[in-house]
Amino acid sequence: MVLSCLRDALPSMSAPSITNRPRKILVTSALPYANGPIHLGHLVEYIQTDIWVRFQKMQGHECWFVCADDAHGTPIMLRAEADGVTPLELIERMHAEHTRDFANFGVAFDNFHSTHTEENRVLSEEIFRRLDAAGHIARRTIKQLYDPERRMFLPDRFVKGNCPNCGAEDQYGDNCEVCGSTYEPTELVKPYSVVSGATPVEKDSEQLFFKVEDFRDFLEGWFAEGRTQAEIANKQKELFAEELFQWDISRNAPYWGFEIPGEKDKYFYVWLDAPIGYLASFRNLCDREGIDFDEFLGPDSSAEMIHFIGKDIARFHTLFWPAELKGAGYRTPTAVWCHGFLTVNGQKMSKSRGTFIMAETYHRHLDPEYLRYYFAAKLDNGIDDIDLSLDDFRARVNSDLVGKLVNIASRCAGFIGKSFGGQLAAELPEPAMYAEFVVALDGVADDYENRRYSKAVRDVMALADRANQYIDAAKPWVLIRDENEQQTVQGICTQGLNLFRVLMTLLKPVLPATAEKAEAFLNIPPLTWDSPREPLLDHAINRFRPLLTRVEEKPIEAMLEETREAREAQQKRATGPLADDPLAAEITIDDFAKVDLRVARVENAEKVEGSDKLLRLTLDLGGEQRNVFAGIQSAYDPADLVGRHVVMVANLAPRKMRFGLSEGMVLAAGDGGSDLFVLSPDEGAKPGTRVR
Ligand code: 2FM
Ligand code: ZN
Repeated sequence: MVLSCLRDALPSMSAPSITNRPRKILVTSALPYANGPIHLGHLVEYIQTDIWVRFQKMQGHECWFVCADDAHGTPIMLRAEADGVTPLELIERMHAEHTRDFANFGVAFDNFHSTHTEENRVLSEEIFRRLDAAGHIARRTIKQLYDPERRMFLPDRFVKGNCPNCGAEDQYGDNCEVCGSTYEPTELVKPYSVVSGATPVEKDSEQLFFKVEDFRDFLEGWFAEGRTQAEIANKQKELFAEELFQWDISRNAPYWGFEIPGEKDKYFYVWLDAPIGYLASFRNLCDREGIDFDEFLGPDSSAEMIHFIGKDIARFHTLFWPAELKGAGYRTPTAVWCHGFLTVNGQKMSKSRGTFIMAETYHRHLDPEYLRYYFAAKLDNGIDDIDLSLDDFRARVNSDLVGKLVNIASRCAGFIGKSFGGQLAAELPEPAMYAEFVVALDGVADDYENRRYSKAVRDVMALADRANQYIDAAKPWVLIRDENEQQTVQGICTQGLNLFRVLMTLLKPVLPATAEKAEAFLNIPPLTWDSPREPLLDHAINRFRPLLTRVEEKPIEAMLEETREAREAQQKRATGPLADDPLAAEITIDDFAKVDLRVARVENAEKVEGSDKLLRLTLDLGGEQRNVFAGIQSAYDPADLVGRHVVMVANLAPRKMRFGLSEGMVLAAGDGGSDLFVLSPDEGAKPGTRVR
């Protein structure tokens, strides 16, 4: 049957597909914190979102996928300090690592930005000012726990103590992991600061609150429109019952974040500027690509804005965020879609069990396409946790991808290559069967659209079974021996490869790298959702190369072994005297040799106006003078330092600080406060002498 007859036989092939509705969609995944690597748990969400975005793009919609590093907050400030780097250096390093990991797993953001950017500062200030001007910001004095040694207020997770309910020891300041009760950090019995070990004291300070209560009616309506899953909506709505429903959006110095305009020593809480980071990333993309930001974000926008998140951060995204946007005159989210957590082998990912697997570790041993496929095969639109069972993972990938999908192509390609010069037949022998495969485009599209990926994958695999059954029954390897059946073989293999092409289209959002290889093999331009509506006939294909290989047990074991080793190395460092202050990553002797340590003489020392930490030191390096700011004011009277010999890092790149240029660093031991001891060489070491 020729193509025109095929068309007539198949009304559904000419029926309008959902691609005919033009859509503008802004899609986000939650912003990863910039203080740790991407692990497989994170990847569930990035892969889930990426599949959805790729599907939309294949449909021809204008879909933009943005994300960013979540670069602010106390944990990042403290982690940078522990690593001996500035927060800026830490977040730059993490940005590079995260970018690499996402690229490795085919997570194709249109922009991966950072919350520590000018776009985000401008948007955060603007949103805050608009909320304040409209009366949605309250100011109240509250009591908070304060670390008197580190002279900082302590976030809930940085206070531990005994649970006020069951007495369990070492519980965090917000909830007890033993009895599950929640409480205020001030209620902990025998509290201590995780940062210094000191007993926190209660201290008053004025804080700024966003009055979420002003948006009760709006939020009721927003939930009623089905903007998130029902379980999530019901849980969040319980909060409306609270009379006073306000959210503390400020933090006291010292804090790593954006200062609140018009306030002194107050910073936006990281969760205020984090979701605004979605907009900042998009703004950055718009400026680069000439996209109209307001068309997507204006109050009357007809575009869609869709956030994919984990169920643990639903409150920020389904209450505070829509209310903030509403109050500041922006459009509100079209949908916030939550997913569950990842378990490995049926249990919570665990460092001690060696199942806390980093993206980088996985990538060193296994093909990311396997994981994308496995996650897709498990994901649906609910919030249940999904399990990565490593035995099942191996069996499933081998049976589905290698045994079914790729098998179709490899069984047919050889005959077309060897006996027909790579040329496909001009007609399909089974057009009705092909048409049934094409019909699946619509059903599977509906599944992707509604995040029923596991169903999509099941349906595609059922079709793959049918394709294989067809080839089994047709037996081209027997017919090829009969001279009179050559054309029949060419037809069978053309049919098989066309069925494979439909299946590859259906799985392209999940398996982008495999699809690209298939496109090269089939010698076709990038597949769009509608490509297979026309079969590929009378067309020259390229030589077949294996698209995916079997997963073996060895690389899985090697991945787990590497995960365990990394954990043990970390544990070794984390016991003994360094338990609370783990060593930084290992360096080589060559790395160390790069640090030029020199004896210097303190010519002058004075307090820095406007800083309660820094001293300005003028150092003599043996003929050369250096200006160095040292954070040792809490431990030294400047006069006591003059004339003293110290050790400095002489080849540190100069750093521009608020008070001037710092041209080196002076070495000191200790945790801060009065616990600081400047290192001095013995008498007789001359300024400029190298320290080895
Ligand atoms: O929970 C987290 O990992 C946060 N960094 C997510 C932020 S998402 C958005 F609001 F920025
Ligand atoms: Zn308890």
